Amino acid sequence: MSEQYNIAVIPGDGTGPEVVEEGIKVLEAVSRKCTSGFRFREFRLGGEQYMENGTLLPDEVLEELRKTDAIFLGAIGHSGVKPGILEREILLRLRFELDLYINLRPVKLFPGVETPLKNKGPDDIDFVVVRENTEGIYAGGGSFFKKDTPYEVALQESIHTRRGVERCIRFAFEYCKNRNKKKHLTLCAKTNVLIYESDLWVRVFEQVREDYGDIRTDYQHVDALCMWMIKNPERFDVIVTNNIFGDIITDIGAIIQGGLGIAAGGNINPKGTAMFEPIGGSAPKYAGKDMINPLAAISATQMMLDYLGEKEAAQELLGAIKRVLKHDLKNMEAGKMGFSTSEVGDLVVGYL
Ligand code: IPM
Ligand code: MG
Repeated sequence: MSEQYNIAVIPGDGTGPEVVEEGIKVLEAVSRKCTSGFRFREFRLGGEQYMENGTLLPDEVLEELRKTDAIFLGAIGHSGVKPGILEREILLRLRFELDLYINLRPVKLFPGVETPLKNKGPDDIDFVVVRENTEGIYAGGGSFFKKDTPYEVALQESIHTRRGVERCIRFAFEYCKNRNKKKHLTLCAKTNVLIYESDLWVRVFEQVREDYGDIRTDYQHVDALCMWMIKNPERFDVIVTNNIFGDIITDIGAIIQGGLGIAAGGNINPKGTAMFEPIGGSAPKYAGKDMINPLAAISATQMMLDYLGEKEAAQELLGAIKRVLKHDLKNMEAGKMGFSTSEVGDLVVGYL
């Protein structure tokens, strides 16, 4: 066995630690199919640390994380901390500082999983959202003017750089080509209102498209796209969009693929490190109860294997997840699975 993969683990808040434990269990089991083993190093970040001593994301930790092959994140978000602090200073700071400019969110309904969409099945719900992950309204620019007076003004800036837009769109074309399914890329924006940012996205999209003659493209306004995701999800293959639209449409994506118990995503810098996470959040009411569904976290490790180039192990793990979904799990929701969190991890391991 060659050198080991350096994996940073951030269990985080709420149910994060429980689901991360199952992810690690599965990675350890599948490691015999990998070209190298895994070395896990845990970093304690999140609401508890913040309330204890004000720690958010120390610079030394950031430097350590920069050197890893991949990061496995449980969840960030704590009911004891005002919304925005942990999200901005930990999650978004990680995305920005490590330049994880792609947020890759597959929306795939597996056989055996229920979707709220009537008459739609696994053949209909199978697409991937490529969300820009470092710019847009998330850049955090803005200000208050005359705060706390009746004349108060709040400004929130949406920043789109040509370089940032182009690298995201190029990744989406490349991804669509390699995915090799419908070879269809949809640009999602809002050109009828956002006459500057969406205009830039369209111009760059049209320019990059010249290099990908075999990929069919189309354009959807974000509001119409939300409707089509529900009415005719089968029309999508790969969707590329900005940060905030990507955030919103992937919650619809998560629910149509069976809910937050199963949806995973990767924050990726194609030339650097990457961070994989279940997209569901910290679910505080289930924390410590061994009730939460760990399959989203396990699916995140599956994406991690794929990113690391461990294609065989990734395929094997995908097969095991599918079997658990088809044969064992009764429901995707916490407490209704018919198994505890750790039992679901064991089931996956059992099929490896
Ligand atoms: C997500 C989340 C985050 C986001 C929050 C927690 C800041 O909703 O990863 O989709 O908006 O990006
Ligand atoms: Mg979100």
